[in-house]
Amino acid sequence: MNQTLADKNILLIISGGIAAYKSLDLIRRLKERGAGVRCVLTQGGAQFVTPLSVAALSEEAVFQDLFSLKDESEMGHIRLSREADLLVVAPASADLMAKMAAGLANDLASTVLLATDKPVLLAPAMNTVMWDHPATRRNFRTLLDDGLHAVGPGQGDLACGEVGAGRMSEPLEIVAAVENIIGGQSAGPATGPSTGQSGAAPLKGRRAIVTSGPTYEAIDPVRYLANRSSGKQGHAIAAALAGLGAEVVLVAGPNNQPDPGGVSVRDIESATQMLAACEAALPADIAVCAAAVSDWRVAGEAEQKMKKDGSGQPPAFNLVENPDILATLSQMNGGRPSLVVGFAAETEKVVDHAQSKRTRKGCDWIVANDVGAGTGVMGGDENTVHLITADNVEAWPKMPKDAVATALAKRIADHFTNHFGSE
Ligand SMILES: Cc1cc2nc3c(=O)[nH]c(=O)nc-3n(C[C@H](O)[C@H](O)[C@H](O)COP(=O)(O)O)c2cc1C
Repeated sequence: MNQTLADKNILLIISGGIAAYKSLDLIRRLKERGAGVRCVLTQGGAQFVTPLSVAALSEEAVFQDLFSLKDESEMGHIRLSREADLLVVAPASADLMAKMAAGLANDLASTVLLATDKPVLLAPAMNTVMWDHPATRRNFRTLLDDGLHAVGPGQGDLACGEVGAGRMSEPLEIVAAVENIIGGQSAGPATGPSTGQSGAAPLKGRRAIVTSGPTYEAIDPVRYLANRSSGKQGHAIAAALAGLGAEVVLVAGPNNQPDPGGVSVRDIESATQMLAACEAALPADIAVCAAAVSDWRVAGEAEQKMKKDGSGQPPAFNLVENPDILATLSQMNGGRPSLVVGFAAETEKVVDHAQSKRTRKGCDWIVANDVGAGTGVMGGDENTVHLITADNVEAWPKMPKDAVATALAKRIADHFTNHFGSE
């Protein structure tokens, strides 16, 4: 076994979720890689796994009580965090994340988390309704903005019998995130990029979010506003980044493209859902916003199918602006992907409009394409793009969308190699 975590000390905080059983395996996986693992078990966590199992697997005492005279004199809460290179909260329960977001320190886990200046990795796990609750989303967002790292949660069968988002990442995914953060500490800040690798997989260890396809904005239960985007370009970019070794989350609006292999796909419909899925997929090194997101949605979507009322007057719609996903990812305080690439679909003055879009949104690069009538770009197989960076405009020849994706992925890999080096 590769000792990727030799001499590293991990403080694993196990809070109260059913996924705590996976944390027992996580302890083994971290130790296999040479890490020392100390564990804090919350009161909730101790309902799901026993201190005895945790102590036996970690080969260390388990810490549970803030006010224990014995623990505090032998290994105080400050020392617990000082002696760790990284704190991992797995599972991160909704309750513990709420305490962290509020800055509470009323038990050992929350006190250690408030008293630390070390990187913290969250692996949230909970029922999908709890995960989707605005309070949980707000707390999670706050923690990411504060510079904490996160892995998952993924989609799938949940222990509660439901299916959806909220499943704790598998132990090996958490280990990979730990390795990324620890590997990246020498290359930059805790929220910064991880160290890339050269060779056939130059993006190995990098995490990318790619958006693709159109969004559907509901008018009523059967009608929606949409656009002609097919998802071909975004899906091809996701596949190309994965082909270079990146771990890719593809957030996709309704489309008929096959899911690219080796990519985690999050299917969404509306712009609001797309933003939420992107935020949930953070942290990431790379974000490529290729989706054709609707600028507006209908205010007050009708709960029942709208009907003609016999007056001959069509219904009036009020539109409200959708969240700006590219600007949100580009302008995040803490946790911003280090390379954010936007797409500009323009029908006139393509380069001028795209250059001002790059500055306005705060992204790093823009891929501009002419989607005017007769170009056949929307839904077609070919694309003619300009790659616009802070100091350059490159006109690329007309190419199949797959080739555009391959060229863009290669440029992204070169960017990371040039800026952060290769191993
Ligand atoms: C059977 C059962 C399963 C639970 N699973 C979860 C879960 O997966 N995620 C979560 O956030 N809370 C879950 N809860 C609720 C938490 O255990 C509860 O909020 C607890 O106070 C959290 O404690 P902590 O702050 O020590 O994490 C579950 C509760 C029960 C009874």
